[in-house]
Amino acid sequence: MLKKGGLYYPTTRFKNKAWVNDRKIYKEGEKNPVKFWEKLARELFWFKKWQKPFEHTPPYFKWFLGGKINITSSIFEGSPQGWDKIKDKTALIWEPEPTDQPSRIFTYQDLFSLVSQFANALKKLGIKKGDRVGIYLPMVPEIIISMLACARIGAVHTVVFSAYSSSALQIRLQGSEAKILITADGYYRRGKIINLKQGADEGIKGTKIERVIVVKRAVNEIPWQKGKDLWWDELIKDENTKCEAEIMDSEDLLFLLATSGSTGRPKQIVHNCGGYTVQAYWTGKWIFDFHPEDILWCTSDLGWITGHSYTCYSPLLNGITTLIFEGAPDFPAPDRWAKIIEEHKVTIFYTAPTAIRMFERYGTEILKDYKFETLRLLGSVGEPIDEGAWLWYFNEVGKGRCPLVDTWWQTETGGILITSLPGIGPFKPTFTGLPFPGTKFDIFDDEGKSCLPGKEGNLVLLPPFTPGLLRGVYKNPEKYLETYWSQYSKETYFTSDGAFKDENGLIRIIGRVDDVIKVAGHRVATGELENAINKHPEISESAVVGIPDEIKGEVPVAFICYTGAENLEHFKKEVVEQIRKEIGPIALPKEIYLVEDLPKTRSGKIMRRILKRLFTGEELGDLSTLANPESVEGIKQKIKND
Ligand code: WT7
Repeated sequence: MLKKGGLYYPTTRFKNKAWVNDRKIYKEGEKNPVKFWEKLARELFWFKKWQKPFEHTPPYFKWFLGGKINITSSIFEGSPQGWDKIKDKTALIWEPEPTDQPSRIFTYQDLFSLVSQFANALKKLGIKKGDRVGIYLPMVPEIIISMLACARIGAVHTVVFSAYSSSALQIRLQGSEAKILITADGYYRRGKIINLKQGADEGIKGTKIERVIVVKRAVNEIPWQKGKDLWWDELIKDENTKCEAEIMDSEDLLFLLATSGSTGRPKQIVHNCGGYTVQAYWTGKWIFDFHPEDILWCTSDLGWITGHSYTCYSPLLNGITTLIFEGAPDFPAPDRWAKIIEEHKVTIFYTAPTAIRMFERYGTEILKDYKFETLRLLGSVGEPIDEGAWLWYFNEVGKGRCPLVDTWWQTETGGILITSLPGIGPFKPTFTGLPFPGTKFDIFDDEGKSCLPGKEGNLVLLPPFTPGLLRGVYKNPEKYLETYWSQYSKETYFTSDGAFKDENGLIRIIGRVDDVIKVAGHRVATGELENAINKHPEISESAVVGIPDEIKGEVPVAFICYTGAENLEHFKKEVVEQIRKEIGPIALPKEIYLVEDLPKTRSGKIMRRILKRLFTGEELGDLSTLANPESVEGIKQKIKND
């Protein structure tokens, strides 16, 4: 039992078996990071070795220049573990929601054949290296097969989370200019069938999508347009089970993934082949200590970067088994997740603090029949983890014997970059840990000076960055420069997170310093929510802020300027529907306040910070600089009365 204020180190047994168990690794990474990464890169399969390891022309940089690679060749025929050793092993387990339906299990050979068949089918549809392919699939094996098939032929996948609405899909497809979309008829969630195809048809309007490939999953009735729509099964059934890998340049595009930022439309983050592969392989191997017998369950949807890197690419590059599930972890019963761990003998469990707090809320009682004997490592990701949730996870799920790695990273970083390594430790609740070997982070004050331990500042990443860091924002160099490289210098990557260090250098993440909120670990821009709300014909102005929430970490609340007097409850419902339609169910506000006026500076900027402080109990600060200080009192009253 670890108690409050405690610190945990790995057991000698864990340590002795771990890939890394010596602090020297940090020194080695620090001494010459480029050489360090080069050494790691050598363990992967390259068609041709790079000529130059690193090049930096701020704000751009490249890794492994001239190297030729294909991530699927490193997973399959060129696996670092040896193809003969892994081909008959289980690569993927799929656990469907109607829990009486059978799981599906794929060996590496099964997966390789299906990937090749689908890759051949895509080629026949005219997809070539560099073309973008949209994927709007639920958690079914075909989502992984699609991603790998794209990578096999050098097409660029761009996955859109299946719970995003059709409008959100449309914006993302427009951003990536995809020509083909892969979707499903429907899927199960909490006992209901969601008709995904219908949403997909709406979402492709006004985009460049010409063909829609449909996976049959829920066998529900769907709209069908001959000539445009194609069934997955029919497409692949006569295809060859072999497909040569497209030889990719290290700096060729591997995938795009949209993510929310402070302003404007979602950004399409660019990840490239060589660096991403190297980083995905090594971060998984060292942080989750992947060994051949491991079965990993990363609960993230494939629609997020966590799913890309640690459900799909990293475990498969390491030749271990990865598990995916359809539905929700607490349906049909609160212990569904615990059952999955026991039934499939999961050894590594990786989830978000929101899920942990939800499990905890259901009570430790339901866990009394679960011993979790197969578990050997736990991970947390996506939002800061509070000490209570940390200790519960460690003591009740890990039974006090599994290292718990809190992992910090972003869509942009491609892989985990701050954490404690499980064979080294220490594991200190609420502190994420140290920079991954070979990476250099610092915490800067507003002037760009390094902060002393205990002092809060902005988390930054310094040259040579990492092989997997984003290479750009698709077709938007200004956004790339402005978002990541303009706060300090063109040589300093700005993470948008606030953080501080303890006296041993362990980093604690405080949270975003921009207008992004993490709702249940999902990244949502307050600006996107405001845009969705403002589309309502009777709304001229609104402000959204994130406020603390016991389960979800943070939730949005909306302040809307509205003076109409009638039927307020109905109006609020309309606003909620509007958000559901524009974005999806992940971003619905917890409260909506209808106010007369929003606090603004004299230049007309809405002071969201003040609105937020009304909930956090912080001092409001000097209101006299506002153009309308009296608005704050009105809002205070509203919050009190609602
Ligand atoms: C933001 C990135 C990267 C995987 C999932 C999220 C927050 C991420 C942690 C953590 C505290 C965390 C940061 C970051 N975040 N991991 N372990 N502790 N905060 O990717 O959606 O791009 O979000 O998530 O604020 O900037 P993302």
